[in-house]
Amino acid sequence: MNGVRILLVDDDVALLEALPQAILLRMDGVQIDTSETATDALERIKEVDYDAIVTDIKMPGMDGLALLEAIGKVRPGTPTLLVTGHGEHDLAVRALRGGAYDFVAKPIDRDYFIASLERAIGMRRLDREVERQRLALERHARVLEHVDDGVFLVDDTGVIQHWNPAAAAITGLTPSAVLGQRADDVLPDWQAIGPTIPVASVPGPGSTNARTLPFVIEGREVWLSISGVAFEDGVVYAFRNLTEERALDELKGEFVATVSHELRTPLAAIYGSAQTLLRQDIEIDEDKQRRLLQVIAQESERLSRVAADILLANRIDSGRLQLQTNRLDVARLAQEVVERMRAGFAEREDVTLEVVAAEPGSFVAGDEDKLRQVLINLVDNAVKYSPDGGAVELRVEPNGTSLSVSIRDEGLGIPHGEQQRIFGKFYRVDPQLSRGVGGTGLGLYICRELVRRMDGLLTVTSKEGEGSTFVVELPLALAPQAEESAPVVQHA
Ligand SMILES: Nc1ncnc2c1ncn2[C@@H]1O[C@H](COP(=O)(O)OP(=O)(O)OP(=O)(O)O)[C@@H](O)[C@H]1O
Ligand SMILES: [Mg+2]
Repeated sequence: MNGVRILLVDDDVALLEALPQAILLRMDGVQIDTSETATDALERIKEVDYDAIVTDIKMPGMDGLALLEAIGKVRPGTPTLLVTGHGEHDLAVRALRGGAYDFVAKPIDRDYFIASLERAIGMRRLDREVERQRLALERHARVLEHVDDGVFLVDDTGVIQHWNPAAAAITGLTPSAVLGQRADDVLPDWQAIGPTIPVASVPGPGSTNARTLPFVIEGREVWLSISGVAFEDGVVYAFRNLTEERALDELKGEFVATVSHELRTPLAAIYGSAQTLLRQDIEIDEDKQRRLLQVIAQESERLSRVAADILLANRIDSGRLQLQTNRLDVARLAQEVVERMRAGFAEREDVTLEVVAAEPGSFVAGDEDKLRQVLINLVDNAVKYSPDGGAVELRVEPNGTSLSVSIRDEGLGIPHGEQQRIFGKFYRVDPQLSRGVGGTGLGLYICRELVRRMDGLLTVTSKEGEGSTFVVELPLALAPQAEESAPVVQHA
């Protein structure tokens, strides 16, 4: 019984001397303190967390029952034995009701007393151990609350017993929906996937390699990198979400496919035309030669446009793009773009291009080259994605402190669910076919980023099958004195 501390409280000094001897005779390593009054005892109890307290019931001043009550407040876990006088059964009963661990009647039966004291100390030790383990568990649980990895525990019967906040955040399944449920019921693929998850028998780094596996959770596919550690009553699993990484990988794959397709198509045309021109076994008249050279020129231009877009997107991403801020006459710029595009789309007679400017000479603050590029991209899309022809209209109008340019078409339109995604890098609706028109899916990404860097906004409204309207909104230029577009500010 090493390190055990007991307090004896009695106003009978003779007993205070006799009892410790009796205890020390039967119990080793016990440290015994004594108090002659309840008040003194209480002071000690406040300072020392005793393993057991033995107190006489009848004492002058504060008696044993009052002391018992006070102990209950200061040290509710400490077992207290009360010593009652001969025949004081009522007091003994009151003591037990008051929370005493046991009572010992005078004259004290030493064997009974020691046995009871040992039990009290044993119980106190167990309580302390339970408390220590509870705190350790709580600490572990708190640690689990804060890790970024999802952690859950499946017991031997297949029931989920722990589900940390990261698990809830990653899967969208709350602890209340999951705890106490069978893993098969909560995770539909558990029966098939569960056995394929690597489970180590000892915890520690490198004991198992996690596997990346697809789970369908509430209709959503999530890729989790998951591994487990077995322990006596079940398996603790830890996982992290790799869905985005996988999506990015897929996107990269798609990008490579798109870019190589975008490069290969014009290259094939250039190569074919050049080969034809080089043939000596056939006569090529001047007209045909011209057409072949035209193909070479056009396709080379397309190639360099794709390369330029990729480089521009890269410069935007790395923050290396410098923008000039000038006062720009947007209506004039729109007119210029439309004329240029009309020439470019000469073969698309089914599409009409029109500029509507309510107030000519509305100035915005922006970068002329970049805004031109934005308008060209948007008009290019409007025409490209109007396979059945129709009107494309550029409307320039002031709108409070800003000026908006709307590019409206009567083409394919964009499904509601795609209207934000089309601004993503390399994103094309229906990339395989894309209705027979080429593109890298970089156009709108570049447009939105350029507009954003001019402190503007690019938005879309569209109805599938009816057409789309893209709106560029830019801040109006503040000082309308200068005639020419003079540099105002330069920003990165
Ligand atoms: N006016 C429009 N009408 C219908 N769909 C459109 C329109 N503009 C864009 N889209 C859709 O959004 C996608 C992304 O457009 P974006 O301009 O970024 O790329 P792209 O035209 O495919 O290629 P490029 O990089 O050559 O511009 C297009 O592939 C198309 O599916
Ligand atoms: Mg485009």
